[in-house]
Amino acid sequence: MGARVWLLLFLVNGFAAVLHPQLLSSCHVLKRVANCTNLNLTSIPHWLPPDIHKVDLSHNFLQNLTDILPFYPAIHQFSLHSNRIQFIQPGLFRTMSHLQVLDLSRNQLDLYAALKIPIGPLTSVQELDLSGNGLYTDMSDYFLGDAPALTNLSLNGNSITKIGKSTFIGSPALRNIDLHNNVILEIEEGTFDSLQHLVELDLSMNSISCITNFNLYHLNSLNLSKNSMMSFQSVITDQDFQLLYLDLRENKIHYFPMLPSKNKLIYLDLSRNQLHSVNSTDADEELQCQKHRDELMCEHRQNCKFPPELCKLLYLDLSYNQLKSIPPDFFGSMVALELLNISNNCLESFMVDQGSPLNKLKTLDLSFNNLQNLSFGNCTLRKLEALYLQGNSLSTLHPGIFQVLPSIKTLHLQQNQLSVCGLEKHLSWSCVYLSYIPTLQYLYLSENVLLSLPAHAFQCSQLLILDLSLNPGVEINAHAFSGLESSLTQLSLRGNQLQTLSTDLSLLRYLKVVDLSSNRLTSLLLGSRDTAIESLNLQNNSVVTLEAHTLETLESTLRSLYMGSNPLSCCRNMHLIELVQQNSVQIPDIALVTCKYRKDTEYVEINLRNVQSEHCETLNSKVLVISMITVLALGLMVVLLVAIRLCHSKGHRFNHSYKA
Ligand SMILES: *[C@@H]1O[C@H](CO)[C@@H](O)[C@H](O)[C@H]1NC(C)=O
Ligand SMILES: *[C@@H]1O[C@H](CO)[C@@H](O)[C@H](O)[C@H]1NC(C)=O
Ligand SMILES: *[C@@H]1O[C@H](CO)[C@@H](O)[C@H](O)[C@H]1NC(C)=O
Ligand SMILES: *[C@@H]1O[C@H](CO)[C@@H](O)[C@H](O)[C@H]1NC(C)=O
Ligand SMILES: *[C@@H]1O[C@H](CO)[C@@H](O)[C@H](O)[C@H]1NC(C)=O
Ligand SMILES: *[C@@H]1O[C@H](CO)[C@@H](O)[C@H](O)[C@H]1NC(C)=O
Ligand SMILES: *[C@@H]1O[C@H](CO)[C@@H](O)[C@H](O)[C@H]1NC(C)=O
Ligand SMILES: *[C@@H]1O[C@H](CO)[C@@H](O)[C@H](O)[C@H]1NC(C)=O
Ligand SMILES: *[C@@H]1O[C@H](CO)[C@@H](O)[C@H](O)[C@H]1NC(C)=O
Ligand SMILES: *[C@@H]1O[C@H](CO)[C@@H](O)[C@H](O)[C@H]1NC(C)=O
Repeated sequence: MGARVWLLLFLVNGFAAVLHPQLLSSCHVLKRVANCTNLNLTSIPHWLPPDIHKVDLSHNFLQNLTDILPFYPAIHQFSLHSNRIQFIQPGLFRTMSHLQVLDLSRNQLDLYAALKIPIGPLTSVQELDLSGNGLYTDMSDYFLGDAPALTNLSLNGNSITKIGKSTFIGSPALRNIDLHNNVILEIEEGTFDSLQHLVELDLSMNSISCITNFNLYHLNSLNLSKNSMMSFQSVITDQDFQLLYLDLRENKIHYFPMLPSKNKLIYLDLSRNQLHSVNSTDADEELQCQKHRDELMCEHRQNCKFPPELCKLLYLDLSYNQLKSIPPDFFGSMVALELLNISNNCLESFMVDQGSPLNKLKTLDLSFNNLQNLSFGNCTLRKLEALYLQGNSLSTLHPGIFQVLPSIKTLHLQQNQLSVCGLEKHLSWSCVYLSYIPTLQYLYLSENVLLSLPAHAFQCSQLLILDLSLNPGVEINAHAFSGLESSLTQLSLRGNQLQTLSTDLSLLRYLKVVDLSSNRLTSLLLGSRDTAIESLNLQNNSVVTLEAHTLETLESTLRSLYMGSNPLSCCRNMHLIELVQQNSVQIPDIALVTCKYRKDTEYVEINLRNVQSEHCETLNSKVLVISMITVLALGLMVVLLVAIRLCHSKGHRFNHSYKA
């Protein structure tokens, strides 16, 4: 009998398909997947194959989901997002025993929930998306009442203010709950207790102000970013927590959170909070808490480490807080830490000592503090590769502070008050030594107060990139870059008020990118060696002529040349003009590249692209004519003079002879 019904249905469907071929073809059906997005449909099509697996009806105008669905019992994935669904016939999904993924996001299910009727069982649904439905408190209950297989639930972007104790009673298999972007103020105690499998909870972008007695032992990931959290405290227990990721970014936390004493945290983001210190409470409170803890829990003292052990932690972000200092022993337990970000705080000094050597740390960001003192103990930071120190007040540093870091690759020292040492015999604190750091490759020194760059400043540091920009007035020794001949590929000397280049850049054989913009250079002289320069920036200088010799040296490798804002002469840059007009070199700022030529008595400025030979020829031929006339006139005068003189002297001789 069942078979006969199916046969009938199949015939009806097939018939419908014949009747609505254009509609069927506009729903793209391929291998049991029907794609009916964006077709202005107001009802579910009747004529899809009955064994269809996946139906995408998103972006249509469906309003009421009534009795048509039982005809497609094989659906596994059903997407109805971005319709106008406001009514679902209760029990509609009961017979869809294969339905695993149901996407009802971006509809108007708040109108349905207002009817206060449960939608009935979601027998096999594993993933349910109810995001963007204007649901508010308790409304989700009508959808979740009977969802025994549900593992992933999204309630993202609704208007939920409170999560009640009963919310998830009907969905005990939940593993992942997304409550991002609601207005949750309160979560009743015990709400998640029934969810033994919950591993991921996203509560970001809500209005939660504090978590006390955090006790979700099985949770892997908890996202509380963008709330109004003042404090986070887990229950005092010696039970193991599985938490790996804790995101507390962008809250109002004043004290370091009280983390489970037995934790496996690998990721902790506390950036953009209001931490003044890394203490877990203020000093008085701390004493009380410590006492309280001792009394309550400390049968075994080792369970009461305070601050807690964070020996699995890989990532700690404390940026954008108000930390004035961090005691070195704070990092004592963080033996695995790879990235530490304390940028944008108020640190005046920072110290790493042998007690907490941070020997797995690869990246240390201390930028934009007020650092004046920095010290690294012996045998610390053995793996540190990138050190960010820009935007501090560093003027003195322990000589050799960077030389003791055996893995350092990148040093950001820009925006400080540093000057650079040469190879003086007597070690000085008042400048920074940047030579003999063989692992160093990237060095940024812009916006310091470099007055000079002494000879051999980077000797035995195999730099690839060197940024010395915006140190106006810096005097660069002719041998400043010695030692970098076979490594340096990028050099910036932008904005340094340079009038000449004392060093021959062609000595730097691997140099590919050179930024000399915004200086006062009148020319660029390169030695006769071949260079590797591919990009040269001479914008905003005082170059009148770019010598043919220089261009010939560059020609074979140069790909882009910035020449804008220079007082170029049109008629003395014929070689450059040729390059431009033949497109053999890219001039990205060509619109700004102008030159001047003389027309009659005044100078005229035109774009280099538009220079024609007559601009200079007219001038040349005029000069030629004038000079020819002048030469002729002079010649005539000479001839005349000689003639006169000859005549005169003849006369004289005559006179003389006459006399004689
Ligand atoms: C349906 O087609 C649209 C584009 O026409 C595409 O974005 C969407 O992913 C498709 N859906 C399925 C289930 O293939
Ligand atoms: C849907 O309706 C809009 C206007 O209401 C029209 O521009 C569009 O072509 C229609 N799309 C289809 C697939 O019929
Ligand atoms: C959908 O259902 C509501 C209430 O059940 C009804 O008022 C409305 O007319 C229906 N709309 C359509 C398009 O069937
Ligand atoms: C469902 O949840 C699990 C566990 O949190 C997660 O790994 C998986 O990516 C989620 N699936 C989807 C489609 O979001
Ligand atoms: C937490 O949520 C925010 C906002 O939704 C997101 O940007 C961030 O990546 C999430 N954090 C983690 C650790 O997944
Ligand atoms: C942090 O705690 C230590 C001792 O536990 C105390 O000496 C110090 O004053 C505290 N710092 C702040 C800012 O409360
Ligand atoms: C440190 O945090 C700041 C601000 O959140 C961010 O801009 C910076 O990229 C981070 N540093 C590193 C090395 O990730
Ligand atoms: C820097 O350290 C020196 C010696 O270690 C100390 O005398 C000085 O007060 C410190 N300065 C600051 C601002 O911490
Ligand atoms: C660090 O090592 C050097 C020599 O290796 C030694 O002179 C100095 O005393 C050591 N400093 C500390 C704080 O142990
Ligand atoms: C040009 O260079 C001068 C310094 O030589 C600088 O002050 C000015 O801002 C630069 N102009 C542009 C547009 O870069």
